[in-house]
Amino acid sequence: PMYKSLFGLSELGEKIKRHYGLKQVAVVPGDSEASIVSKRELGKAACHVLRGELRSNDVVAITGGTTMAQVASQLTTGTAMKDVWFVPARGGLGESLDYQANTLASMMAKRIGGQYRMLHVPDHLGEEAFASLMQEPNIREIVDVIRSARIVVHGIGDAMVMARRRKLEQGAVQEMTAEGALAEAFGFYFDRNGSVVHKMQTVGLRLEDIANTELVIAVAGGKNKGEAIAAIMRFGQDDVLVTDEAAALEIVELI
Ligand code: BG6
Repeated sequence: PMYKSLFGLSELGEKIKRHYGLKQVAVVPGDSEASIVSKRELGKAACHVLRGELRSNDVVAITGGTTMAQVASQLTTGTAMKDVWFVPARGGLGESLDYQANTLASMMAKRIGGQYRMLHVPDHLGEEAFASLMQEPNIREIVDVIRSARIVVHGIGDAMVMARRRKLEQGAVQEMTAEGALAEAFGFYFDRNGSVVHKMQTVGLRLEDIANTELVIAVAGGKNKGEAIAAIMRFGQDDVLVTDEAAALEIVELI
């Protein structure tokens, strides 16, 4: 479908950028949820942003997801960037292998001739398992690398869609609903004001690590994600938003 907006795409982006105090907003045409062409464009635009920011010795923590998969599969570079590292932002969140963060981190590293490390543990663990895993030198080492990331690139999801996709137990879903969960990003769930609900321990990036990350890039589009994207923008840790026209129109409506 064609989206006939009153604003040009750059005007839409400018409005969002100003309202949320972002450094940069890129808006691609169309609705990436309805059109694979648009989703590919979204991925390509995010690659462009990321390529412009990458420096020697960077550690880039990424999330999984079908949108991030479009970023990973289109990343290119002129010359190999041997000393750039890609790592998953979180441990395993119960997603399909094709778009798990581990898979995408290795894909991105290979595409630009860089390095990657994987984190082969489930993210949500009981206290005891968590404590003993964190004492494993191999795991501790990669967790420390993840938490030192200068750049985070992440997708954004609708809370209920993500809870279902990750097969979260019914009890947890009910609690989250009661707490007003609306959006999901980096494995955390947020309400419409961008406050974290259902806080949990993680082997990967913690909220304080995200707050300390120099450059946080969100990549998400589709009309149905507009509210979720706005919630994550209210969380306030993103510097750059790469989105599409359909989501941008929804986000502007909510301003
Ligand atoms: C997940 C990420 O893998 O993908 C989330 O961990 C993100 O942060 C989600 O919200 C988005 O998925 P998709 O497939 O809609 O891009």
